[in-house]
Amino acid sequence: MSGQSESTPDSERDTESESELDLDLDLDSGSDSDTDSDTGSDSSPNSDSDTAAETDADAFDELLAFVEAELNFATSHYNDSYLDRRISSRMRRTQTDSYTEYADLLHSDSDEQESLLESFSINVTGFFRNPEVWDGIRQILRHCSARRQHTDQPLRIWSAACADGREPYSLSLLAQLDPKIDADAVEILGTDISEPALETARNGVYEEPRTVDLDEQLSFLEAYDEGYEQYVEHQGRTYELGADIRQSVTFERHDLINGEPKSTANFDLVVCRNLFIYIDNEFKRPILQTIARSLTDDGFLVIGKAETIPPSLKSAFEVRDARRRIYQCDNS
Ligand SMILES: C[S@@+](CC[C@H](N)C(=O)[O-])C[C@H]1O[C@@H](n2cnc3c(N)ncnc32)[C@H](O)[C@@H]1O
Repeated sequence: MSGQSESTPDSERDTESESELDLDLDLDSGSDSDTDSDTGSDSSPNSDSDTAAETDADAFDELLAFVEAELNFATSHYNDSYLDRRISSRMRRTQTDSYTEYADLLHSDSDEQESLLESFSINVTGFFRNPEVWDGIRQILRHCSARRQHTDQPLRIWSAACADGREPYSLSLLAQLDPKIDADAVEILGTDISEPALETARNGVYEEPRTVDLDEQLSFLEAYDEGYEQYVEHQGRTYELGADIRQSVTFERHDLINGEPKSTANFDLVVCRNLFIYIDNEFKRPILQTIARSLTDDGFLVIGKAETIPPSLKSAFEVRDARRRIYQCDNS
C-alpha cells in the first residue's frame, strides 16, 4: 500500500498513544486531532494573520469540495484536522506551498488524485494489535465456539475496516491455534473502503518494514506449543499466510458509513477498531447502527482501545469488558 510507508511511524506509537485516551465518541467536538494515531507535527502551511487564515480556510474548503464532488471521497465524514494533516503531508511531498497551488495540481494530475485518496485511508494496522484486547477476543471466540458446538452453524466474524488484512488473519490464526476454538466452524469476513488495502489482504503476503517487527506482533501466539510458523511462511522480511489461514477469510469492499448492514450475515462478533477516531461525530452513529443490525441478538462488538460507544447508543450495546472495549449486543 502506498500509504504504508507514510504511516509506518504511526504503527510504532499507535497503541501507546491511543490506549491512554478515553475518547468518548459523543462528547468530543471534532477535536480528535490530539488523539489520532497519526498526529505528527504537521501544521497548516499558512497561519500568519487572520486574513491569511481566512483565505486559507476558504481554499481548504474548496479543496475538500473538489475531493468530495470530483473524486468521490466523502470528506464531510472525516474530521477537518485529520484531513488537513493528510493534505499538508501531500503538499510537502509535492512541494506545493498553499492549498490553492495544491488544488491546481490536483485538478490536473490523476496520479496525485490517487495518492491523496490513498493517504486519506488511514491504514495503520498490525497482527494482534493491542495484545491484551486479543485475550478478550480469545474468550469471545471460545464462548461462541462452545455455544455452536452442537449446531451445524458457522461462527461468523466480521473484521470491519480491516485495512490490509492483518486483523482478520490474526482472528484466523487464533482460531487455528487455540484448541478450544473450532477453527473449521469459523468464517471471517474482512471489509474495508480501500481497494489497495484489500488487494494486499487478498494476497496475504506482508513485507516487514524496517521499523516494524512482525515476528514480535505474532508472538502473541507464543502461548501455543505449535507456534505460528506452521501457518506463516517466513523468509527474510517476507511473511506469507498459509492456505489453512487464508481459506477461512474472505474480503470485500464495504463502506461502513454509506454501505448497507450485513443483516443477513448474523455475525457472532464484529471487530471494528481504530476507525471511529478519524470520523466526524455525526457519522459514528450510522456506523454503530450498521454494526448492531449485522450482529446476532447477543453478538459481540470490539472497538479500538481509544474509542468508546456514545452513551446515546448504549441501549444497543452493553459493556462486557470496559478496559478491552468489548460490548455485547442487546437486540433482544
Ligand atoms: C487505522 S485502520 C484500522 C485497521 C484495523 N481495524 C486495526 O485496528 O488495526 C482504519 C481503516 O479504516 C478504513 N476506512 C476508512 N473509512 C472507512 C469507511 N467509511 N468504511 C470502511 N472502512 C473505512 C481505512 O481504509 C483503514 O484501512
